[in-house]
Amino acid sequence: MTKDTVTIRNNATDKETEFSLLRGSVGTPAVDIGSLNKELGVFTFDPGFMSTASCKSAITYIDGEKGILLYRGYPIEQLAKNSSFVEVAYLLMNGELPSEVELLSFTDEINQHSMIHESLRIFFNGFHYDAHPMAMMVGVMGSLSAFYHSELDMSDPEHRRISAMRMVAKMPTIAAASHRHSVGWPFVYPRQDLEYCENFMNMMFSLPGQKYIDKNNYIDPIAVKALNLLFILHADHEQNASTSTVRLASSTGANPYACVAAGISALWGPAHGGANEAVLSMLAEIGTVDRIPKFIAKAKDKNDPFRLMGFGHRVYKNFDPRATITRETCYEVLEKFPSDDPLFELAIALEEYALKDDYFIEKKLYPNVDFYSGIIYKALKIPEDMFTVMFVIARTAGWVSHWLEMMSEPGQRIGRPRQIYTGYKNRDYSSIDNR
Ligand code: ACO
Repeated sequence: MTKDTVTIRNNATDKETEFSLLRGSVGTPAVDIGSLNKELGVFTFDPGFMSTASCKSAITYIDGEKGILLYRGYPIEQLAKNSSFVEVAYLLMNGELPSEVELLSFTDEINQHSMIHESLRIFFNGFHYDAHPMAMMVGVMGSLSAFYHSELDMSDPEHRRISAMRMVAKMPTIAAASHRHSVGWPFVYPRQDLEYCENFMNMMFSLPGQKYIDKNNYIDPIAVKALNLLFILHADHEQNASTSTVRLASSTGANPYACVAAGISALWGPAHGGANEAVLSMLAEIGTVDRIPKFIAKAKDKNDPFRLMGFGHRVYKNFDPRATITRETCYEVLEKFPSDDPLFELAIALEEYALKDDYFIEKKLYPNVDFYSGIIYKALKIPEDMFTVMFVIARTAGWVSHWLEMMSEPGQRIGRPRQIYTGYKNRDYSSIDNR
């Protein structure tokens, strides 16, 4: 018996087998149980993937106990301080930080692909005026594949690269178009001369005949910096629910646009990317500091479905390093864009209250990245129903990086979990006598 194995014994059959441990460059090893059913005649049962690694990946590393998040080995704090979102997208997709020349050419290519086909633009007219922007995101993203038939040979690395670039480049355009359709404003075309986040803000807010810096200073450098930072923090988070959805859909050989549309759908839920929108609804519901104890009690009540939105994380158990950064940015942004809305003060008070409460201490529930991101977006005048869409723009860099990584690996298998069947055993159709 070597140290690098785990022995599993099936007491029902008295058979035991050694399974190898797989070790990454850092982090918890995993038992390779691919042959468990063949060897011992049993499956594993792990709903919610509490202890299951679904793949090998060299993109992002998280240490939940220590609050460490690395993209391609670089700490998130360093990237947040020194990088732009486009540079981080390059890093995630290519594995290395770009040289100056590489970044220029990558940025140029992103700019070139930022337009959407006019027929796709017209698609938006098919949505009802009050459609949720996330509903439009799912539909329009999936339909992109209808425009690129000639470059969908997934065995061709260049086709894969171009598809990934297109998704990163077009996402802000599609996102802004979803917003403008929902408020009945004319579509604004992407501009090649603007930086990625500036371009998005311009497509969101500029009015006909106006230059992108409007009278409300939407494209203030602090706003652009904050947006870059939030996009960097949200760009990837290893095998989260939406990325795993993209990987599972991709394992069937489906085209990447359809797979990313599946990822957008998974991100929409309030337990995942919908949390930033849900935090603001929750803060609005709480309303004033004196009502915090009542809502904390609701969150602790097992018979009440209410949870503190923006609190808790499957992986982070001491703090979410992204939340520390968004909290600091909140101060900076609110100083520049002050608001009469006491949301931030309420959020700080709620955080303080919860962090002293035994229930939250015992269950290791801390603010996650989305506890403060919604407040920043609100200060930047991003409408609440666009918060999850903002997350989509950022996470697209992660989704396509995982997709590129997965598609370049030989010997891919379709993702196909097993189940424990709890329904009827074999029944006889002719035995039904009450019809
Ligand atoms: N408020 C109150 N209680 C909570 C919360 C919360 N926000 N989060 C977890 N708990 C409790 C659960 O009731 C459970 O209690 P129990 O052990 O007595 O049954 C325990 O803490 C563990 O919770 P799980 O749901 O089992 O933890 P899991 O890892 O499955 O879920 C999740 C993590 C989904 C993030 C959860 O904490 C949650 O719902 N948080 C609120 C939504 C949210 O902020 N989502 C954003 C996640 S970050 C992101 O996607 C960018």
